[in-house]
Amino acid sequence: MRSITSSLLSVVLCLAALAQAIPQGPSGGGGGGDSSGSTFGPGSSSQDGSDAGSGTDGSSSGGGDTTMATTTSSSWDAAATAATTASSAAASSSSSSSSSSSSYVAVSSSTANASVACNNSADLCTRQYNNITHMGAHDSAFVRDASTDNSVAGNQYYNATVALSAGIRLLSAQVHNSNGTLELCHTTCALLDAGSLTSWLEKIKYWMDENPNEVVTLLLVNSDDEDVDVFGEAFVASNISTYGYTPTTSTSSSSSSSSSSWSSSSSATTNDWPTLQEMISADTRLVTFIAAINASTTYPYLLNEWDYVFETAYEVTSSTEFNCTLDRPSTLSSATAAIEAGYLPLMNHFLYISITADAMLPNVDAISVTNSDNTTQPGGLAYEAYECYDEWSSTAPVFVLVDFYSKGPAIDTADLMNGITPTGRTTSAQSVSSSSDGGCRSRGCGNGAAWVRHAQLAAFSVFVLLVLV
Ligand SMILES: *[C@@H]1O[C@H](CO)[C@@H](O)[C@H](O)[C@H]1NC(C)=O
Ligand SMILES: *[C@@H]1O[C@H](CO)[C@@H](O)[C@H](O)[C@H]1NC(C)=O
Ligand SMILES: *[C@@H]1O[C@H](CO)[C@@H](O)[C@H](O)[C@H]1NC(C)=O
Ligand SMILES: *[C@@H]1O[C@H](CO)[C@@H](O)[C@H](O)[C@H]1NC(C)=O
Ligand SMILES: *[C@@H]1O[C@H](CO)[C@@H](O)[C@H](O)[C@H]1NC(C)=O
Ligand SMILES: *[C@@H]1O[C@H](CO)[C@@H](O)[C@H](O)[C@H]1NC(C)=O
Ligand SMILES: *[C@@H]1O[C@H](CO)[C@@H](O)[C@H](O)[C@H]1NC(C)=O
Ligand SMILES: *[C@@H]1O[C@H](CO)[C@@H](O)[C@H](O)[C@H]1NC(C)=O
Ligand SMILES: *[C@@H]1O[C@H](CO)[C@@H](O)[C@H](O)[C@H]1NC(C)=O
Repeated sequence: MRSITSSLLSVVLCLAALAQAIPQGPSGGGGGGDSSGSTFGPGSSSQDGSDAGSGTDGSSSGGGDTTMATTTSSSWDAAATAATTASSAAASSSSSSSSSSSSYVAVSSSTANASVACNNSADLCTRQYNNITHMGAHDSAFVRDASTDNSVAGNQYYNATVALSAGIRLLSAQVHNSNGTLELCHTTCALLDAGSLTSWLEKIKYWMDENPNEVVTLLLVNSDDEDVDVFGEAFVASNISTYGYTPTTSTSSSSSSSSSSWSSSSSATTNDWPTLQEMISADTRLVTFIAAINASTTYPYLLNEWDYVFETAYEVTSSTEFNCTLDRPSTLSSATAAIEAGYLPLMNHFLYISITADAMLPNVDAISVTNSDNTTQPGGLAYEAYECYDEWSSTAPVFVLVDFYSKGPAIDTADLMNGITPTGRTTSAQSVSSSSDGGCRSRGCGNGAAWVRHAQLAAFSVFVLLVLV
């Protein structure tokens, strides 16, 4: 129903000086990234869940959202003006490696070598990249924490490197041209500017330096249709280009894809993705999808998302509306056809509240259900992931994007789909709670008091929030 490339989702107006209310720079808030390195036990889903104070913060935050929106609704039109359509959004790759293959959800016996263990599980090392569910933090650069004064433009409680340490392996973000520099901005740089793409990539690179056995995927939204070379320069400047993975360019391999309807698209899909261990051994551990770019031989590791990935719908406002139907790219006829052709399925799983016809905010009230690993809870993350698995001929989502990944925690569902018992993770609360400011355990991330305060403050601010994909 909407333009395929448009990822603009919502607009929120408030009155006030955004620049003050929303300081730039993602880090802020105190906690050192001191990972204590404690491990997750099997089924220890409560650990990360305790992070952010579970239920209370969800409901309070939601209330804050609603209040803010209500009080400021008069200025919507102005905001809408600013809400230009951006290019499309989140996705990342992965998919089933061979169309006819059976389930890959099966638990593998531990054949892996602990000395080469990937943090999430040694069992994953021997699996192909496209035979793994990579849990992703949607809009991972846009954080609701002290650094943004708990901005409602934030979709996560913890930043990207904290997320990686918690097991997240897919990071999405919107990239805008701000005065000639690529900045991570949410809808507009006046709303929330999380700093430059280069400096964010430096932080991701630092984490990857420290964690040499980890494979990371980025999904960047090219909101201002910048040339691929501009992105390439940021990747080179941050040195993260050294980790860039370039797929072998065999067009969709062998068996699949003689099938009919999707034939018009010229894609670079392949079923020949390497195993994580192969990527680790070659030290090409970063997979980067950008929506959208024209691929360039100068920066071959910058991949046009729509040549590799398809996505389910992302503008979902009711938990009963989650479905596994292909939404983008529109050139493909169906999810099953896309999977047969070697596209990696991305399941968007975040819920919005519609404030007005054009405005949406993350539904924080529902987050504990939305991110739940309860396989019999309709609307929950695990339930919907299995729905897709069934609908997609026993192919699990290769990529999943969620808001507030620490709730649930969402990573539990990835573990379920991957059939692993995780090791080597740091819970988000542990990694940031040591200082007074950044720890959600002590202060309550997005809790009621903070939210009310912020809502009140925001009511005096002017601001535009677009929840994008
Ligand atoms: C996340 O926060 C930690 C602790 O403040 C900081 O060391 C790290 O660089 C931040 N990462 C990002 C991507 O901002
Ligand atoms: C995916 O990995 C699982 C677990 O190792 C394995 O059983 C399955 O055969 C793999 N599927 C494909 C298509 O490689
Ligand atoms: C693990 O891998 C290392 C390096 O490849 C090898 O030397 C070692 O023998 C392996 N250990 C096991 C238990 O397979
Ligand atoms: C953008 O560039 C113009 C012209 O160089 C300058 O006047 C303006 O202050 C800059 N804006 C920002 C936000 O840096
Ligand atoms: C890709 O190429 C087409 C055709 O040359 C051009 O219209 C479009 O702007 C390019 N897109 C980007 C993001 O460079
Ligand atoms: C990138 O690597 C070069 C060469 O090793 C080094 O001089 C430079 O400081 C690095 N830049 C960053 C941002 O790490
Ligand atoms: C899937 O969900 C999207 C978003 O709610 C909706 O637009 C679309 O019609 C749904 N598709 C099906 C087949 O239910
Ligand atoms: C899972 O969800 C179902 C359906 O809502 C519910 O009946 C059941 O109690 C839940 N299980 C757990 C462990 O919460
Ligand atoms: C993750 O693996 C790296 C080696 O790649 C190791 O140094 C690090 O301690 C592990 N992290 C945790 C939290 O165990």
